[in-house]
Amino acid sequence: MAGNTLGTYFKITTWGESHGKALGVVIDGCPAGLSLCEGDIQEYLDRRKPGGSRYSTPRKEGDEVSILSGVFEGKTTGTPVCLMIPNTSQRSGDYSEIASYYRPGHADFTFDAKYGFRDYRGGGRSSGRETAGRVAGGAVASLILKELGIRLCAYTKSIGPVSAAMDKFRAEAVRMTPTCMPDEESSAKAEAYLEECMANHNSAGGVVECRVDGMPAGIGEPVFDKLDACLAKAVMSIGAVKAVEIGDGCAAAGSTGTENNDAFHMENGMPGKKTNHAGGILGGMSDGSPIIVRAHIKPTPSVFSPQETINKNGENIVVQIKGRHDPVIVPRAVVVVESMIALTLVDLLFAGIPSRMDSLRQFYGSRRE
Ligand SMILES: Cc1cc2nc3c(=O)[nH]c(=O)nc-3n(C[C@H](O)[C@H](O)[C@H](O)COP(=O)(O)O)c2cc1C
Repeated sequence: MAGNTLGTYFKITTWGESHGKALGVVIDGCPAGLSLCEGDIQEYLDRRKPGGSRYSTPRKEGDEVSILSGVFEGKTTGTPVCLMIPNTSQRSGDYSEIASYYRPGHADFTFDAKYGFRDYRGGGRSSGRETAGRVAGGAVASLILKELGIRLCAYTKSIGPVSAAMDKFRAEAVRMTPTCMPDEESSAKAEAYLEECMANHNSAGGVVECRVDGMPAGIGEPVFDKLDACLAKAVMSIGAVKAVEIGDGCAAAGSTGTENNDAFHMENGMPGKKTNHAGGILGGMSDGSPIIVRAHIKPTPSVFSPQETINKNGENIVVQIKGRHDPVIVPRAVVVVESMIALTLVDLLFAGIPSRMDSLRQFYGSRRE
């Protein structure tokens, strides 16, 4: 299987399966001297781990991270950082039946088509559990961004037909509501909608939005490694994400030039923009305004209603899925989206260092003094 690595200068490789002994991440290119302990990473993993609310799978995972390498006396050494998260709540028996058939909306059919063999326990590598390694890596990237004054805030923008009231936005509410919505009133409405879905043995989808503040202008490589292209790839690689938008996104296609262009103006002697339809990215590079990214997430494919499918013998059958599943993926995906964005930003910040001769001269010149 190829493609388990993301990034060029700050690179992650995730490893492990849903029902294996453990899963995790190796980070290559982490600078030396970053303060790092398990607690820094655990904080992010706790936001993702299952069992946190009625709207996440009842599978109870401790998701306790161990730092296996790359840290000495509380600081990164510049060598590969390996982070491991043991799987402690596997119940492979729940999945024995799905070895013989293909769950609608899942990767079972395509895995068999590609490899002729699959780890059917919980979806193996295509399980939502794989995202634990991404979040552990994203926690390290977020610490680097914090040191550079770059802040990320992701939240649930909508679930089914219920959208968050952005005029009532409270960052603290994101960590308190079971939906990760930024206002309690909208969260209560979304919870009522989820109850209805669950009562009907159905599931729901929704949108995660992430805002990045403090990003300097000029980050992103203007051709194939555009900042928006890299963000789209990173976020789209999360299971169940079906679309990614930057700024006004799809709405820009129905807008006019005069409406959509963001007027530049000087603010306290610095270039600024009067609006931010572009979502903080122009020509594939950050423009200094907040970066706005949205991930559109499909309803959880595992629903407990009877569904038509086929088995490995090529017979049409009706199945009723068992196991432990999220009735909505969105709240648990919030920190995953934030992590993929953090990883992308760090990689492109590092890629931008040699873009000017004067900054190179300054860096290596200062080392000779
Ligand atoms: C954090 C997270 C949790 C997930 N939990 C579940 C789940 O409990 N049940 C399920 O059927 N799918 C779940 N998924 C989605 C599947 O992994 C995904 O839909 C499936 O692998 C098919 O991939 P695709 O939707 O990208 O085509 C989850 C995804 C994420 C990111």
